[in-house]
Amino acid sequence: MAGFDVIILGAGPGGYICAIRCAQLGLKVAVVEGRETLGGTCLNVGCIPSKALLHASHMLHEAQENFAKMGLMTASPKVDWAKMQGYKDDVVGQNTKGIEFLFKKNKITWLKGWGSIPAPGQVRVGQEVHQAKSIVIATGSEPASLPGVTVDERVVVTSTGALTLGKIPKTMVVIGAGVIGLEMGSVYARLGAQVTVVEYLDAITPGMDAEIARAFQRILTKQGLTFVLGAAVQGVDPAKGGATVRWTLKKDGSAGSQKAEVVLLATGRKPYTAGLGLEALGVDVLPRGQVKTDGHFATTVPGIYAIGDAIPGPMLAHKAGDEGMALAEILAGKAGHVNYGVIPGVIYTTPEVANVGKTEDQLKAEGRAYKVGKFSFMGNARAKSVFQGEGFVKLLADRDTDRILGCHLIGPAAGDLIHEVCVAMEFGASAQDLALTCHAHPTFSEAMHEAALACGDGAIHA
Ligand code: NAI
Repeated sequence: MAGFDVIILGAGPGGYICAIRCAQLGLKVAVVEGRETLGGTCLNVGCIPSKALLHASHMLHEAQENFAKMGLMTASPKVDWAKMQGYKDDVVGQNTKGIEFLFKKNKITWLKGWGSIPAPGQVRVGQEVHQAKSIVIATGSEPASLPGVTVDERVVVTSTGALTLGKIPKTMVVIGAGVIGLEMGSVYARLGAQVTVVEYLDAITPGMDAEIARAFQRILTKQGLTFVLGAAVQGVDPAKGGATVRWTLKKDGSAGSQKAEVVLLATGRKPYTAGLGLEALGVDVLPRGQVKTDGHFATTVPGIYAIGDAIPGPMLAHKAGDEGMALAEILAGKAGHVNYGVIPGVIYTTPEVANVGKTEDQLKAEGRAYKVGKFSFMGNARAKSVFQGEGFVKLLADRDTDRILGCHLIGPAAGDLIHEVCVAMEFGASAQDLALTCHAHPTFSEAMHEAALACGDGAIHA
């Protein structure tokens, strides 16, 4: 029986970042992970492999659509799917090995296997029981199921199966117009599939600023995706060479269906805590399966903590990582803190979509007086030069104090640009603070500068 200060269950971005920070703060740490490689869903079957496929398919799109416009006269590239899969797997391998290296560097013990918590202070992995002063549940999430839909990860797939399809399908139906559905739908649309997205709500990407969501849907439609909105999926039936998705339209109850070679189920994820023994321990779980915690990640059982997708909040790798870091600091006797008001969200399509802070609808609902500074990427020289003039920045600031309340944008490098606003919000900056900050020319970030100017006396290039 080995003793540790902290044992963390799960080596995803929540768990591994928590482990590294614990080690840096002088704690003796072990991480339990049953996968062959570290990094959890994000590195193995989530963020990282999907970004590799998004990049490769974007490059194909560039070659097909834009190379000739720049005088690059080459035959359109052919897709070698096996090689593209190999590239994706290499990217994953580099990243998961990177975490293994960091574990060694920080002297973190990897307890290989699936763990459970037989009692407070104890973690069982296989036949061994390890002692720990603190236990952290960082077990993440798994795809949510949908009644009437049986996943086989070949024809009817989740995000996991969508990364390793045997071939590029000619037709695909995506159930759910959320982040996974639109990212993976974009990948296969660019690779030549006819993609139909069936969404329960009347708009795509619920929770996103409505104006951005509408612009996003227009752009994706131009890229060849078809949307069926307001449609409640009734089931998926096996069909020759694929499967048929059946739905009824909420507005009039009429039935619709679409056959496809592959169906991607992307209707959300749910916390993964199976097998931990939480019920026997008396750890309270909320109705939607999330572990109940207080403001300091403590569960209802002393010495047991939880972070990331296993607890409420946006299911995002960076949110989990920040919680892991904050909890490590708390366990080391410091003051760990996460500012949930400033957590960016990014969708890695082309163009990218990003947001932070409040949406306009939220501000309206709160009765808050606000102003909007908007700027189109059509007025940004750099964006136009790379054929990415579509999209805009929308900065929201308090009408009276000018303090930045949120930012929503769709356009080139949106996922990087958003961090300028994150930093500004962390410092309680005003739109004028951004407007008074010199932005290099020609850069995409000038669009952010212009949106800030638009909150004041006006943008220059509008
Ligand atoms: P999501 O919550 O983003 O979207 C699910 C969509 O499915 C929603 O639009 C919902 O209205 C729709 N839906 C639910 N039931 C339905 C039904 N019966 N018929 C039709 N549509 C239905 O979930 P998603 O895309 O599966 O992603 C899961 C989690 O992973 C999310 O929390 C997301 O933030 C995270 N993620 C984040 C990424 C990023 O940050 N770039 C990438 C991939 C996932």
